[in-house]
Amino acid sequence: MGASVPQLTLGLLVGLVIGIASQAFLPLFQQRVRKRRPRPLPPTDDQGDWEAPTFDSGGSSAEDDDNLRVVEGIAGLIGNTPMVRIPSLSEATGCDIYAKAEFLNPGGSPKDRVALTMVETAEQTGKLIPHTECCLFEGTVGSTGISLAMIARAKGYRCHIVIPDDQAQEKYALLTRLNATVEKVRPVSIVNSNHFVNVARCRAREYSQTASSVTITSSPSESHHSHRTHVALRGHHQGYFADQFENPANFAAHFNQTGPEIYRQMRGQLDAFVAGAGTGGTLAGIARYLKPRIPQLKVVLADPTGSGLFHRIKHGVLYTPLEAEGTRRRHQVDTVVEGIGINRITRNFAKVLEPRSSNASTPAAALPWVDDAVHVTDEQAVLMARYLVSTEGLFVGSSSAVNCVAAVRTAQQLGPGHTIVTVLCDSGQRHLTKFWNDEYLQALNLPTSFPDSLAFLD
Ligand SMILES: Cc1ncc(COP(=O)(O)O)c(C=O)c1O
Repeated sequence: MGASVPQLTLGLLVGLVIGIASQAFLPLFQQRVRKRRPRPLPPTDDQGDWEAPTFDSGGSSAEDDDNLRVVEGIAGLIGNTPMVRIPSLSEATGCDIYAKAEFLNPGGSPKDRVALTMVETAEQTGKLIPHTECCLFEGTVGSTGISLAMIARAKGYRCHIVIPDDQAQEKYALLTRLNATVEKVRPVSIVNSNHFVNVARCRAREYSQTASSVTITSSPSESHHSHRTHVALRGHHQGYFADQFENPANFAAHFNQTGPEIYRQMRGQLDAFVAGAGTGGTLAGIARYLKPRIPQLKVVLADPTGSGLFHRIKHGVLYTPLEAEGTRRRHQVDTVVEGIGINRITRNFAKVLEPRSSNASTPAAALPWVDDAVHVTDEQAVLMARYLVSTEGLFVGSSSAVNCVAAVRTAQQLGPGHTIVTVLCDSGQRHLTKFWNDEYLQALNLPTSFPDSLAFLD
């Protein structure tokens, strides 16, 4: 049957609209497709002005497939950080000095791994349920708080951070922007109930108690989120004290992730691993993973001024009476370095004080997990950070600088031809108002020059 006049008119109109629309939107569509397509590689036959680099530029190969990975959410960005060789330190010592670039984690430090592992472990044991009124509490000098606050946003928790009031301003700003509640406290000894760790524990308890009778039901507006809970949850208005210093999930994160990554990246070929300790999770987790697999490996603690751990490793006693955290009423550790150094043995650090073998009569039982310790002064840390900028354009925070000083010292002790691995914990961007602030350093009689040699370590 033939089409009627109105049908023909309608058909013509529809055709016209489609024609105009395709003309108008085709360029946009092409643009989108162009954006999605990977950029073409530079020509290989006719190279024009472009010259193929002769160094390893990170171009794709089977080994690089890891770098091309596509991940799910912020948690997928955590870990698998690159290992970087530091040419200036390597050439100055005749060794190969490498660093695990942990500052490239999305929250800017290795604490992302720890925070995620602590939260996931708590979820597995039912202590935390996402998208209820659960709140994460932590006492931290910053990095762990930032990582927890970030993960809290992604997973649907509240976050309350207790932090000493003498830390770099950047940390408070970041925590606030990540929507954490920030409670600043005076830096006091761990035996004082106002110590940041004790306050955080107390706040978690208070939060759970005040809300223990509350029943949480997901609101209708939340019901479109398939991953959100739809059942009434009694008693899950929980306060969860993460407790990074004592929580074994901290050690586990480094034992299960950072240690194996280092082993794979170095193909098991390293002579020394060097790191500082705050909670001790990094040092202990990595040392305990690597040592049984690399028998000749030396593990070296990098310790800032004021910390008692150096003495514990070198002489078997934690502190001199002057440094005892229980007796001092001043800062936790007297140094410009943030994140490492402590005057008590935490459960995570204690993992490297355990015997190497459960059978005390075997020779292995007498071997230490940590072989040596290097004391790093504030002046050395400041100058190393500035040397790394001068020679490498590497802008790192204070604990990374301490690690690099200790890595150089270890290289000098071992002699040329050895391979040393350390950690770059966080970026200098997190320390602009303190460790990277000239006025702050000058007030403490610390140098602000940018050395171009390692003469400051002579
Ligand atoms: C910047 C920074 N570096 C190093 C560390 C030390 O790591 P760990 O606590 O595993 O000893 C910390 C700990 O908070 C830190 O914040």
